[in-house]
Amino acid sequence: MSETLTAPPRLEALYDRVARVVPRMEWEMFADDIAAILDLKRRHRAVILAHNYQTPEIFHCVADIRGDSLALARDAQGLDADVIVMAGVHFMAETAKMMNPDKTVLIPSLQAGCSLADSITAADVRALKRAHPGVPVVTYVNSTADVKAESDICCTSANARHIVESLGVPRVIMIPDEFLAQNVQRDTGVEIITWAGHCEVHERFTPQEIRDWRRDNPGVAVLAHPECPPGVVAEADFSGSTAAMSDFVARGAHDRVLLVTECSMSDNLAAAHPAIDFVRPCNLCPHMKRITLPAIRHALESLTHEVTIPDHLLAGGRRAVERMLAA
Ligand code: 13P
Ligand code: SF4
Repeated sequence: MSETLTAPPRLEALYDRVARVVPRMEWEMFADDIAAILDLKRRHRAVILAHNYQTPEIFHCVADIRGDSLALARDAQGLDADVIVMAGVHFMAETAKMMNPDKTVLIPSLQAGCSLADSITAADVRALKRAHPGVPVVTYVNSTADVKAESDICCTSANARHIVESLGVPRVIMIPDEFLAQNVQRDTGVEIITWAGHCEVHERFTPQEIRDWRRDNPGVAVLAHPECPPGVVAEADFSGSTAAMSDFVARGAHDRVLLVTECSMSDNLAAAHPAIDFVRPCNLCPHMKRITLPAIRHALESLTHEVTIPDHLLAGGRRAVERMLAA
């Protein structure tokens, strides 16, 4: 059951969840906002969904549902709540709205965008479809509602390979992440027409950096997100979505781990797995970091910023997301 509808955990018990990564002095600054947010959640029957890249005080202390983009889309369905707050970026809030058109969906910062979602428009997708008639369009969830509405099916980093293979065709258009598409093409043999969109966090990692970290940290297990360039993924021991990386770490087979992804992911896992040593390259997503405790508190106090999607886009976008969830 969601923590929202039960008694709130005591603040000190919440601190225990993050004590390994949040110094006591910092916690003193967070405590007032955390207490207010827990109270506001009950008053508004609100649920907070948090992506794995949220900072530990949000992820471990105020979120009700946590996970990767796939989990946030799947678990947003049928929530017993009146208000959904997305502690993540705008495309995630739009997906939550598609799955809950009758609920109030809030994003605590309108500046929480995404370089991938910003890289392509619905007009670009229409042009691609005209250039490649009959070729299905697989759209990464890191995209706007109007781009999803032009698409046949969505995918996330957790299921991209499965979605492409499920179509049973020799060629697909896969947008907008060029590196994810190249990584899927290598794994499936399906020919992929792609788009030159990149995640501004993952595109910065290089194969040489990975080799240097391995040299400096003997025995380290290297996990890379599939938004990284193919040369980086080729240097890793494992590649998967943020949830897949989390599950890999939880299996406990490695006592030293390097996550080639956004910084907060290592913090959140380090809080939960004290026996594991995390080597921490730190590429920060400025969009995810727009979401802070004061911004969440303000969103719940003022019930802003409400995410809306015009009906004609909502139906098409939802169809593409539902096809993904059913595949
Ligand atoms: P996943 O959590 O779905 O792996 O996605 C990573 C990401 O960059 C979301 O913005
Ligand atoms: Fe977008 Fe990359 Fe930030 Fe995820 S980490 S929200 S893909 S810019």
